[in-house]
Amino acid sequence: MAGSNRNLLVLPGDGIGPEVMNEVRKVIAWMGKKRAVGFDIQEDVVGGSALDKHGVPLSDATMKTALEADAVLFGSVGGPKWDNVEFDKKPERGLLRLRKEMDLFANLRPAKVFDALVDASALRPEIVKGLDIMIIRELTGGVYFGEPRGVTTLPNGEKEAIDTQRYKSSEIRRVCAVAFELARKRKNKVCSSEKANVMHTGVLWRQEATKLHQESYKDVELSHMYADALAMQLVRWPAQFDVIVTDNLFGDILSDEASMLTGSLGMLPSASLGAPDATGRRKALYEPIHGSAPDIAGKGLANPIAEALSFAMMLRFSFDLGTEADLVEKAIENVLAAGYRTADLLGGKSEGVKKVGTQEMGDAIVKELDRLA
Ligand code: IPM
Ligand code: MN
Repeated sequence: MAGSNRNLLVLPGDGIGPEVMNEVRKVIAWMGKKRAVGFDIQEDVVGGSALDKHGVPLSDATMKTALEADAVLFGSVGGPKWDNVEFDKKPERGLLRLRKEMDLFANLRPAKVFDALVDASALRPEIVKGLDIMIIRELTGGVYFGEPRGVTTLPNGEKEAIDTQRYKSSEIRRVCAVAFELARKRKNKVCSSEKANVMHTGVLWRQEATKLHQESYKDVELSHMYADALAMQLVRWPAQFDVIVTDNLFGDILSDEASMLTGSLGMLPSASLGAPDATGRRKALYEPIHGSAPDIAGKGLANPIAEALSFAMMLRFSFDLGTEADLVEKAIENVLAAGYRTADLLGGKSEGVKKVGTQEMGDAIVKELDRLA
């Protein structure tokens, strides 16, 4: 829609990315038609598909468009076709470049259990029912980007690989601030996680979190937990958590773990946010937590809900369209309550549910939006 003032870059990527994005396009179109919420959409390639087309997993032109967009909606990247490309050309590098150059340091990964799906979780219903936690993962620092890194050959001929974990006070403070701010709008609890028992970055992380808390967020309850213990507590008693804030690598791992509490990796959206500029606008990228799932790509089996919920997060965080975001989330909740399940959500169950493919799930969501509006 021309002149909407909402510039959106859509990057479907590889594997199931394009399939789930097709369904979200239906939701985007619905917003334009039924709610007069239009977007100026540009679409481009990223990951393996960019490598095939341009020889790099993210072209400079696409990077520039992303920096100028109000928001980026991302699918997924990677697949066996590109398993053997050199390190700097791996499809994942495209996504990492976007995160780094857009300075998207705060990655919000909510894990919310829909009532209809309590049985799909690997944990007992009484442990996960009503669960609503938010993992905030630092996204532009730590071992993902720390220098020095690389592989060298030692004088004796053997190889040595190096990755470096490093964090500055300012990097820790800014992501912890996002956690405290968000907690205030939720249950007012932050659990900061690192391994201060063995890592210098962990010691600094704990110090900075504590200091910032003392300076500006005393009203929020702050606790600290080693990342290994947190991994254990997440499956033992997840409801003890509200907001969890942690570094890039621990956040990557713990958010995958948290996703299984909700029943499927196919359910979880995420928002990656930068610092607000002078006008309050944050650079932002929205993506499902799941990957490109090459094993089911092209078969119409993928669950489009994580991508749709990522779009809902975009409505809420980038465009202040809370009512519209609620509508999308409510439609998804209702569709699940009505028994619609993609394969990943079945958990061995077939009674009282309606097994659907990617497109049918997308259509069901749009139909429910029509009913709700
Ligand atoms: C994620 C993914 C990425 C990561 C990959 C695709 C680079 O696993 O978003 O969690 O490791 O951050
Ligand atoms: Mn991951």
